[in-house]
Amino acid sequence: MTPKPRQYHITTFGCQMNKADSERMAGILEDIGFNWSEDPNNADLILYNTCTIRDNAEQKVYSYLGRQAKRKHQQPDLTLVVAGCVAQQEGEQLLRRVPELDLVMGPQHANRLQDLLQQVFDGNQVVATEPIHIVEDITKPRRDSTVTAWVNIIYGCNERCSYCVVPNVRGTEQSRTPEAIQAEMKELGRQGYKEITLLGQNIDAYGRDLPGSTPEGRHQHTLTDLLYYVHDVPGVERIRFATSHPRYFTERLIKACKELPNVCEHFHIPFQSGDNEILKAMKRGYTHEKYRRIIDKIREYMPDAAISADAIVGFPGETEAQFENTLKLVDDIGFDQLNTAAYSPRPGTPAALWDNQLSEEVKSDRLQRLNHLVAQKAAERSQRYRDRIEEVLVEEQNPKNPAQVMGRTNGNRLTFFPGKIEELKGEIVKVKITEVRAFSLTGEAIK
Ligand code: SAH
Ligand code: SF4
Ligand code: F3S
Repeated sequence: MTPKPRQYHITTFGCQMNKADSERMAGILEDIGFNWSEDPNNADLILYNTCTIRDNAEQKVYSYLGRQAKRKHQQPDLTLVVAGCVAQQEGEQLLRRVPELDLVMGPQHANRLQDLLQQVFDGNQVVATEPIHIVEDITKPRRDSTVTAWVNIIYGCNERCSYCVVPNVRGTEQSRTPEAIQAEMKELGRQGYKEITLLGQNIDAYGRDLPGSTPEGRHQHTLTDLLYYVHDVPGVERIRFATSHPRYFTERLIKACKELPNVCEHFHIPFQSGDNEILKAMKRGYTHEKYRRIIDKIREYMPDAAISADAIVGFPGETEAQFENTLKLVDDIGFDQLNTAAYSPRPGTPAALWDNQLSEEVKSDRLQRLNHLVAQKAAERSQRYRDRIEEVLVEEQNPKNPAQVMGRTNGNRLTFFPGKIEELKGEIVKVKITEVRAFSLTGEAIK
């Protein structure tokens, strides 16, 4: 009798980096004989890929972990793994807090999962959080989608925004070579993937650390050069990239996006605050005027480009007037989408130690006011799609309406229309938009 295959379950928190890492770790687990279990309670190995960007993200992990740690008392051969950013931040302390854990591994170690698990199966409790050079992954990721895929191009972040844990947990910048990126994209194209999002925490930093770069910062490997190098990979019809930093965003990049037909007219450029004093305290290295100039430039080349961003309210010391500068920026620019957050003090970051922290009431009041404006502006922006014909790349069935499929426009707007997923999955369909909402559209396919 062959033994029952071991089952694994991964729960992923946080950003696209974590999602991409989870897909690679799932690939490794399947390579060594594990099968996916939809229900975590049937799994023999549970991996939490964690996020620590804000306190509530971190707390969520502890509540999940608590439940599985209890289960381990009934099922001692259950393997419990904490990966990702909480693992990196807490390291050994996590083992003290949850002694049932078998493996604590930082994000730089994702590709080493097989080795680390071997140590666990040999009977060790393992913590892997030391900084390392990220090794290229030779396993195939187990990707959630068969249509869209993520490709990391640069890991880590060398910025020191005063509120942010990412540099602490993701380490210094490490760019992959253009050849490795292109090879992965070609393979994805061969497998039928239609859309690729290139990922980096500060994607504009791409290439700075590669050989051939010069100290003046003028180097042959920039994000723009990379786009020219990979834009025509066979089969890949859409390319996106995130996250852009206003400090490094160039006109050359804007031109490339305009010029290269497969690069989507979609920009995710967080501004964080619309106030120059706050931007300075955040150590962002740009002014709101500079940010506005970037958006103007994008719109000069691509009047219809979709613009999304992130913003923080209630940064230490933020006055009502300074918050209103953020509202003003949002009102003036008219984002298609904005991720908003109340400032959360994070361990190991400078801003967390300042004594001018705002109350939770002020922060949540500002967050609500900002969200209200965001929805209103997004609804306005959506109007431009009414009666238009948009190209929609079909990804899935609409989970709420099986008679419809869903996908995204070039500008990343979620769009629903009647159709059969078996026929349309992975197709780019021309859709006439009939209904618009703040963050999604509905339409009909045109023949
Ligand atoms: N590299 C990206 C952002 C990565 S973190 C950039 O530079 O913009 C994703 C988002 O989380 C940030 O854009 C910011 O809006 C939010 N964020 C980061 N740290 C935060 C904190 N301490 N409190 C609240 N929001 C935070
Ligand atoms: Fe964090 Fe700033 Fe780096 Fe973005 S650029 S990941 S906000 S330190
Ligand atoms: Fe969270 Fe780590 Fe991403 S802290 S936002 S998962 S880089």
